[in-house]
Amino acid sequence: MALLANQARSYATAIHQVARDVFKSGNPADRVVNAYFRDIKKLGSRDRRMIAETLFSLFRWWGWLRQLLEDSQSLWDDGGERSEEWARLLYAAHLLDNAELHPVAQEWQQTANLPHISHGMGALTLAEKSRRLRELFRATPFDAAALVPGWLQQCVPLDEQAYLSFLAYLQQRPPLWLRAQVEREALILELRSAGLVPTLTAMLPQALCLEQARVNLFELQSFRDGKFELQDFASQMIGIATQAKPGERWWDACAGAGGKTLQLAAMMQNKGTLIASDIREYKLLELRKRARRAQFSNISPRPWNEAKLPVKHGSVDGVLVDAPCTGTGTWRRNPDCRWTAKAEDVAEMAQLQLDILSRASKAAKPGGVVVYATCSVCEAENEAVVRAFLAQRQEFTLEGWQNPLTGTLTDGMLRVWPMDANCDATFAARFRRNM
Ligand SMILES: C[S@@+](CC[C@H](N)C(=O)[O-])C[C@H]1O[C@@H](n2cnc3c(N)ncnc32)[C@H](O)[C@@H]1O
Repeated sequence: MALLANQARSYATAIHQVARDVFKSGNPADRVVNAYFRDIKKLGSRDRRMIAETLFSLFRWWGWLRQLLEDSQSLWDDGGERSEEWARLLYAAHLLDNAELHPVAQEWQQTANLPHISHGMGALTLAEKSRRLRELFRATPFDAAALVPGWLQQCVPLDEQAYLSFLAYLQQRPPLWLRAQVEREALILELRSAGLVPTLTAMLPQALCLEQARVNLFELQSFRDGKFELQDFASQMIGIATQAKPGERWWDACAGAGGKTLQLAAMMQNKGTLIASDIREYKLLELRKRARRAQFSNISPRPWNEAKLPVKHGSVDGVLVDAPCTGTGTWRRNPDCRWTAKAEDVAEMAQLQLDILSRASKAAKPGGVVVYATCSVCEAENEAVVRAFLAQRQEFTLEGWQNPLTGTLTDGMLRVWPMDANCDATFAARFRRNM
């Protein structure tokens, strides 16, 4: 018993330290928690899992949990991690996301002086969770709208009903999506022998979904051999929008660590040239590593940290601009970002996006393609950037491509929502430069 109580205290301290750091610094929670785990070596894999899962539940439900606070200031003071209030938040966070309760959560329940409950709310709908939470804490109503910052709704082109459905998806733990870099059926057999249960989708030929991944995927031999990459379904939809073909010359202008670069290289069957750039040179190191692992020899990383383009004007068949954005489409996977993003980021990003798109599009040759993409749900960063670009650059027109979700042609722009395929949200537009 004493062991369990110690464990509950040490988890509570860890989550408090990391959450406080995230709120204060605005740094992404996954980076902060990984740095914490690197420093505190004594934690085993089960400890880490419970700490990380509760931390993410806390951010996912923060919009409701903070309504349970009596004194939100002192919570973050030293000693706040030992308070009854903190135990209440941790217990509620765990309760909301899990059907089976962890013994440590029952310790938090006792510290918080709350009644014992035998089952969590993990399997309930959002409306049922709201009702049960209200009963348990005799608190004010818990509205779905409070689960994200108030400024989001007016940025998103969804009617009331669709917006509520979007919010309900944001509150579910996302599955993991893989992109097979070998024949998908062969990979499924390998993953099954590692105890995983991948499922297929008919919509994307290389995508595999893992609802539960209780093993470290990066330690699997099939990963080390470059047989798959982690890439969300929505992100894979952006690669599809490029329709990149073997032998072509493409420029991935905002390649980052190369998630989509690798997808394009695979679509090009390692034939042709794929120049991958980013303003942050260190990201290209990771890209090189991933390209080596997948044995792609057609990728050529080049930094882009000056006004001049790293490729000649009018020289490539296609440009992919996977622009920096508010990341609002990934709030399901990164729930902490809901509370560190600011309303004014949207307009700032839109300006930067139009600037990058305008400059990068100059690399497309006459008759070439430009694909613009973001993982934002905000209209200002998506359709509005497209309209501004078209008004500025009359040599470009929108061009449809086959939408894997429906099998029909898009009108040149595509939104993917979590409701479409249990994934992140994304946007893509495809332009053709006149001959
Ligand atoms: C959405 S991320 C790219 C993700 C990447 N394509 C992938 O699939 O993994 C956007 C990238 O744009 C880069 N970026 C930020 N500002 C930029 C700028 N002004 N010019 C070019 N790239 C920029 C960021 O470093 C970041 O890696």
